[in-house]
Amino acid sequence: MPGRQRYKSGNIFQSARRRKKQTAGDGRYTKLKGGVSPTATLRNMMNQANDTGGEETLELAGKHILLGLSGGIACYKAAELCRTLVKAGATVQVVMSQAAEQFITPVTLQALSGRPVYTSQWDRRESNNMAHINLSREADAILIAPCSADFIAKLLHGRADDLLSLMCLARPIDKVPLLVAPAMNREMYAHPATQRNFAQLESDGARVLGVGSGFQACGETGDGRMLEPEQLLEDIIAFFTPKVLIGQRVLVTAGPTYESIDPIRGITNLSSGKMGFAVARAAREAGAEVTLVAGPVSLPTPRGVSRIDVKSAKNMLEAVIERAQQATIFIATAAVADWRPATPSDRKMKKDGSGHAPRLEFTENPDILATVSHSAAAQAGKLFCVGFAAESHDLLENAQAKRVRKKVPLLIGNIGPDTFGQDHNALLLVDEQGSTELPRASKLSLARRLVREITIRMSALAR
Ligand SMILES: Cc1cc2nc3c(=O)[nH]c(=O)nc-3n(C[C@H](O)[C@H](O)[C@H](O)COP(=O)(O)O)c2cc1C
Repeated sequence: MPGRQRYKSGNIFQSARRRKKQTAGDGRYTKLKGGVSPTATLRNMMNQANDTGGEETLELAGKHILLGLSGGIACYKAAELCRTLVKAGATVQVVMSQAAEQFITPVTLQALSGRPVYTSQWDRRESNNMAHINLSREADAILIAPCSADFIAKLLHGRADDLLSLMCLARPIDKVPLLVAPAMNREMYAHPATQRNFAQLESDGARVLGVGSGFQACGETGDGRMLEPEQLLEDIIAFFTPKVLIGQRVLVTAGPTYESIDPIRGITNLSSGKMGFAVARAAREAGAEVTLVAGPVSLPTPRGVSRIDVKSAKNMLEAVIERAQQATIFIATAAVADWRPATPSDRKMKKDGSGHAPRLEFTENPDILATVSHSAAAQAGKLFCVGFAAESHDLLENAQAKRVRKKVPLLIGNIGPDTFGQDHNALLLVDEQGSTELPRASKLSLARRLVREITIRMSALAR
């Protein structure tokens, strides 16, 4: 069936080749030293790459980040981090401690940020010779990555004997947040002095972003690795996202289910889980406490989200029922199998040479969304339920009928073949008032928009 006939609702699913122009960002910082920045060019490239016809903006557009490097092996990751921040639309000014210069040269970071790197408080390029004041006044945030144990101790004591520490101390504390990404040997990390310093730093208003675990440069294995650049990017984007879901506990299902026929084979579908994972990430960015119940997919868990892996529809229902009691929002994006083999074999079913194919009997699976949405909490308005419907045709009619049947305030229709496995999607939001179309865009930007739409509906209900 040709694309647009499948939707009787409107016109967004037709490909509207519309791209939001990037307006925020660069202009504001051209006054800075070394103003030739690759950011604008990169933004244009990213926008072109993201040309999905929907509304796409770079997540850190308009943000100016002071990236501070202190001395540690993880300085090699800071180069990639700098690039990642620039690609996400930020302007980045790098400041390095003397020790950091032992691990990576300012040349690399100048090339990647498009700005000369600052390393000394005696930098004569500043007309007033006060780089620590000037740099910290222009920033939307200071991110120290890697943050050495020594630098953490320095921050804690308000020491200011080099540009990096001086700049952190001199920053306007209510306007310029300080985020630190520690990186150190596992013993240094676990040391009571370091742990005490983290706790004190947090209570002084800084944000300690946590560490990764695994093989370390020194040959030991444990906690203390700097988070990967992509993980830090996720945390920084979340940091800047308005916390419209603060205090909410969101339960999301994602991916396909797998119904065993025998120990070797099973019935599943082509859902990749990307939409549900994006929804979980967007909800966490918006400040919610998020639990993600995932069918068999191998996607990385969004930062800060707690994940439960399940296989079959029955497993998914059990996991959901247990967690739904604490949830305030339930978003069912998983493509749950409607049926499962009635009597799965406990041994592999073999060809017997007769040419006769086996006959499979099916039994109906539990309806996870309906089970939750018919619960007392949902009916009393204490649990806001959102369902997803993957359809092949007549999206509006099918979605509206499903919304009424499942008794949910909001149902999201999408076309199965257009979403399964894809990074982009288009959504049709159906509620009591009618329908709203979200044009084709990345699943993450759709998920962020969906979070806003849910918030609007929840506050309308609360009034
Ligand atoms: C090879 C080498 C690797 C180091 N790696 C780390 C590290 O990963 N984390 C850390 O906190 N310190 C590390 N140090 C120690 C710091 O570089 C040292 O404490 C330095 O004084 C930190 O200075 P800064 O905080 O002013 O940048 C390392 C030292 C050496 C010689």
